[in-house]
Amino acid sequence: MIESYHLTVVGAGYVGLATAIGLASKGHTIDLMEVRSDRLEALRAGELPIHEPGMDAAFADPAIRARVHPVSGLPDGPSDLILVCVGTPMGENGRSDLRQLQSALEAARPLVQSGVPLVIRSTLPAGSNDQIVRWAGGDQTRIFSNPEFLAQGRALEDFLAPSRVVIGTFPEADPAALAVVKAVLGGGSCPLLVVTVAEADLIKNGSNAYLALKLSYANELAVLCEELGADVMTVIEGIGLDPRLGRKYMQPGFGFGGSCLPKDLRSITNVGRDLGLEMHVTSAASEANESHQRRFARRVISVLPPGSKRVAMLGLAFKAGTDDVRSSPALRVAELLIGRGLEVVGYDPFAAHDAALALPGLRLAATAEEALAGAGVAVIGTESPEFIDLDWRAIAATMASPVVVDGRRVLDGSTMRALGFRYEAVGAPTSA
Ligand SMILES: NC(=O)c1ccc[n+]([C@@H]2O[C@H](COP(=O)([O-])OP(=O)(O)OC[C@H]3O[C@@H](n4cnc5c(N)ncnc54)[C@H](O)[C@@H]3O)[C@@H](O)[C@H]2O)c1
Repeated sequence: MIESYHLTVVGAGYVGLATAIGLASKGHTIDLMEVRSDRLEALRAGELPIHEPGMDAAFADPAIRARVHPVSGLPDGPSDLILVCVGTPMGENGRSDLRQLQSALEAARPLVQSGVPLVIRSTLPAGSNDQIVRWAGGDQTRIFSNPEFLAQGRALEDFLAPSRVVIGTFPEADPAALAVVKAVLGGGSCPLLVVTVAEADLIKNGSNAYLALKLSYANELAVLCEELGADVMTVIEGIGLDPRLGRKYMQPGFGFGGSCLPKDLRSITNVGRDLGLEMHVTSAASEANESHQRRFARRVISVLPPGSKRVAMLGLAFKAGTDDVRSSPALRVAELLIGRGLEVVGYDPFAAHDAALALPGLRLAATAEEALAGAGVAVIGTESPEFIDLDWRAIAATMASPVVVDGRRVLDGSTMRALGFRYEAVGAPTSA
């Protein structure tokens, strides 16, 4: 039986909700502090303000829900630990925008100054330590960095069964405070690393940047395959059989997105540059990612039949299974197509609302079939299983021309061609 703590989680986004619901499922009591009234209202009504598989079922459990108390400000009651999970999005200049963090830490100051330990679960750019302590106004010996490594689409699962728990400490960390942090966040069977704050932040930035490098590399191989008439899926299968290399994060596409990988790639590049270092590898991966999205948009335009100006974009989120459109490659391509005077009709099972807000010129359809009717080309923008199961035979008759560009390699090319489609795919030889 684990000891039960009274915890304050700040920020009810993907990480904050996974943290709050995950810790509540372990028996802790949570004050979940959030500034957005729409998110608070949803939570108070017993609904999740985001789409995340498995999390709504956990939140529907009365025992878990009873332990999560959504609050708009610092709770009056006791707190054993503050866990800060607010956003640190990429700012205009490619650096992490730390304003949410500053306001959260300043708000938490009274608790910190009364001796409550604080962990930052948000992703920090390496080297931001001094201002963190200043904003929290507290004794650095009770402030910790505990980066989260979850992947959206499996956020709660990853929180509950992490690959590792990393705790970054400042010099002369208070042993009693560290013990509370370990008791709340450790305890599983995975390795627990206690390191410096700079090391913790670099483990996080470095992990995400490495994942981004692998994806960029797979996408670059796909471009090469297209030019050489080879199939990248075969090439990657062969590469992945080498146990030193593996197959994970080598799924080719037309770019990666989300709130983490593009940001951390830019962040680690800028941290290095601020130190006078030329970050050749990470800066090239960022540029490659942008160029893969532009190249894909050109490819879509190149197969649009003469006279047709309508493109159906199936999948608008940054990946399947989420409603998150932050840095979504599908939306970026839609934006480029709209910029070229084309009409883009988008469909996504979860992300339509946020996609419309993010890209005002985008037209939305309520179903995939509606988006496809009258379109000159269908673009597969995410790997949603729904797109595989569509009745493509029936759809061929409703499109202005049966052309598919598969940006995620989810459809079977020979089946699509047998149904009369011109089928083009990332990293595949161009069809006749
Ligand atoms: N999304 C992921 O997959 C993921 C994975 C690992 C780490 N991270 C990192 O975790 C952090 C959070 O990411 P996210 O995706 O959950 O972000 P998010 O934008 O979904 O959620 C952040 C929440 O914090 C709230 N907030 C902002 N300021 C606040 C304040 N002062 N008080 C209370 N609430 C406040 C916002 O309103 C928002 O609801 C980021 O640093 C991100 O880089 C994200």
